Amino acid sequence: MLEDRRTELLERQGIAFRFTGVASRRLGWIADPAGIDSQTLLALGNSRSAPPPDPAPRDVREWLDSARADVLFEATSLNVHDGQPAVDHIHAALQHGAHAITANKGPIVHAYRDLRDLAATRGKRFLFESTVMDGVPVFSFFDQLPAIRLQGFHGILNSTTNVILAEMENGLSFEDALKKAQELGIAETDASHDIDGWDAAVKTAALITVLMDYPIKLPEIDREGIRELTGNAVRNARRDGWPFKLVCRAKRTANGVEASVRPEKILGTQPMARISGASSYVYFETDIFPGLALTEENPGIYATAYGLLADLVRAVGAKSDKNK
Ligand SMILES: NC(=O)c1ccc[n+]([C@@H]2O[C@H](COP(=O)([O-])OP(=O)(O)OC[C@H]3O[C@@H](n4cnc5c(N)ncnc54)[C@H](OP(=O)(O)O)[C@@H]3O)[C@@H](O)[C@H]2O)c1
Repeated sequence: MLEDRRTELLERQGIAFRFTGVASRRLGWIADPAGIDSQTLLALGNSRSAPPPDPAPRDVREWLDSARADVLFEATSLNVHDGQPAVDHIHAALQHGAHAITANKGPIVHAYRDLRDLAATRGKRFLFESTVMDGVPVFSFFDQLPAIRLQGFHGILNSTTNVILAEMENGLSFEDALKKAQELGIAETDASHDIDGWDAAVKTAALITVLMDYPIKLPEIDREGIRELTGNAVRNARRDGWPFKLVCRAKRTANGVEASVRPEKILGTQPMARISGASSYVYFETDIFPGLALTEENPGIYATAYGLLADLVRAVGAKSDKNK
């Protein structure tokens, strides 16, 4: 994505860049401050291992130093329990003096305030637009709504379950619909994160934590997945005009915020009932605008990468607000 938009980034935003490091469990910590060309990086991504640089960085701090990183893109797998190792990676980047950009929801749910405050102290940005609804500007949307009060929201934030429910409506059992979603590459081999509602709950928690300024813990979210739904129940609900959807909800109360993720029957004329396939939807209730909605129709595979790229522009672009 970065290579593909190199010209636009330079001409429209004044951003020139080079890749000076890449890391994963398989590859270890690879750094070269002179730059690594993108073809080499793509080849590394497809390989099982890489020759270690000499001397090889031993941890994220040494790696950031060796790469002389200005920006870190953090995209490790989601760890719903404590957000690690992503929290440590982002912490290290901000300490190093780099902007930190992530697609990983774990650090938002487990360490948002610490990382936000550290970024402010270091004069750097901690940005995470790809964590919810891929690259759709959900968090940035609220930058355009200063001093507004968000009272609550509802929506469909997990596309895998939406696809599985549609396949069940078309005649498949839960097990066969899951298998089909896995064959299509929509559901992972271990799809429990999606079907048990964890992914939707973590996204709900991220929106509540950042936009409602309430650091909700995952166990506080009343969570139920779609595993117990039978094909007949799903088909009957659709036939009756009240299809099942895995719905995320949050509402401000006198004591904080109440939230749930669970299958609900939605009246067929409601916007949520018409969210099909891999699409997502969120409806915000604010004190000024009673209802504001964002819909993402069938995102392609570049949507998440685009969110990371847009965060880069927010952090270092000529038009970015350096005072944030
Ligand atoms: N895919 C999407 O459309 C999407 C959308 C929104 C948000 N996200 C979020 O973006 C992140 C990445 O998604 P993905 O689908 O690419 O996940 P993934 O398939 O699990 O890949 C994660 C990558 O992180 C590396 N990694 C995992 N644990 C690591 C560790 N402890 N240290 C170093 N590297 C580690 C893996 O390297 P190895 O292969 O070497 O283990 C792999 O390259 C996740 O947090 C996900 O929730 C993804």
